[in-house]
Amino acid sequence: MKKRLIFAAMVKEVVLSGIRPTGFLHLGNYFGAMRNYVRMQDEFNCYFFVANWHSLTTHPDTKELQANVLRVIAENIACGLDPEKVALYVQSDVPQIAELYLYLNMMAYKGELEKTVTFKEKVRLQPENVNAGLLTYPVLQAADILIHRAVKVPVGKDQEQHLEMARNYAERFNHRYGEILPLPYAFNYGGELVKIMSLDGEGKMSKSENQMNTLYLADDDDVIRKKIMKAKTDGGPLTPNAPMPAYIENLFTLMGLVSSTDTVEKFRSDYNNSSEGNCIIRYGDLKKQLAEDMAAFIKPIREKATDLQKDTATLQKIMKMGAEKAGESASKTLTLVRSAIGMNYY
Ligand code: ADP
Ligand code: TRP
Repeated sequence: MKKRLIFAAMVKEVVLSGIRPTGFLHLGNYFGAMRNYVRMQDEFNCYFFVANWHSLTTHPDTKELQANVLRVIAENIACGLDPEKVALYVQSDVPQIAELYLYLNMMAYKGELEKTVTFKEKVRLQPENVNAGLLTYPVLQAADILIHRAVKVPVGKDQEQHLEMARNYAERFNHRYGEILPLPYAFNYGGELVKIMSLDGEGKMSKSENQMNTLYLADDDDVIRKKIMKAKTDGGPLTPNAPMPAYIENLFTLMGLVSSTDTVEKFRSDYNNSSEGNCIIRYGDLKKQLAEDMAAFIKPIREKATDLQKDTATLQKIMKMGAEKAGESASKTLTLVRSAIGMNYY
């Protein structure tokens, strides 16, 4: 018994997460997901990948796909991921995922897939291309996770429902064929999952949003300044300790991520002590400070990513090494899955 406990303590939990190569990475990706990846790589057995199959559900034109995949890999490393410590790979290099996706599709029902929030949103955005891949997007995501039997999935708040669906498919599989797949949960070091809003205060920051409202890791200092100075604010609070509108809260959130505690506290106290006719907080100053701190934060990431992208051969070597690590773990799970279903004939 004692021995088993010691062994359990030595086995690191499995972590997995993915990002779609549909454009330039932005602050939402960084603070919702990648910041956690970097911390988790020292503590857990980590798999991080570029979800290029998922991108086909919304971006059938693949002209920019190759370049996007290389850039996402480079940006992940620039943010601090060490390809020696983690498996950093491209989804399509691990075909075992597609086989697990096929089995999990039998656990997924049309009615619940049609009710998924992200599916309904995509149907609204691309009514001319409501393909089956789009409908079963959460099943493929479940396969990404369950293929490594991952239990922690660092993602932003928008992915909560997909994680719940992944748990449902794992439970259904286990119930039908035996306990093979552990249940995965969304993870963030702070506890609460993160949602970075767009700079105009409308919805979440995302790759496909208006570019002026999204801060990209590839933006140069002047672009960052320009975007932040244009961010939505208002005439200021009308009473002391007034509730914050979401777009002001978002500026404080961003400040909390890149500025010193003293700076955030100063502006927070200015906000709380302001009222109509006595506006202490100056949103112009707040944005200027935020712009400088943000530019200083993004600069080293941008420079490292730019450098890495000049060396395609090294990026390819990294992707290959990641695919080998991921393929090994995926094959192990698939062997268990096949024999649980009874598809082991020889
Ligand atoms: P996008 O929505 O920009 O296309 P992805 O879908 O590839 O980005 O998301 C990759 C990761 O980044 C996911 O874990 C997702 O939850 C996270 N993420 C994306 N946008 C945000 C945001 N605005 N706030 C917090 N996390 C986000
Ligand atoms: N659906 C995720 C997103 O849009 C990307 C993704 C694909 C993912 N497969 C995953 C995230 C597996 C975590 C785990 O952000």
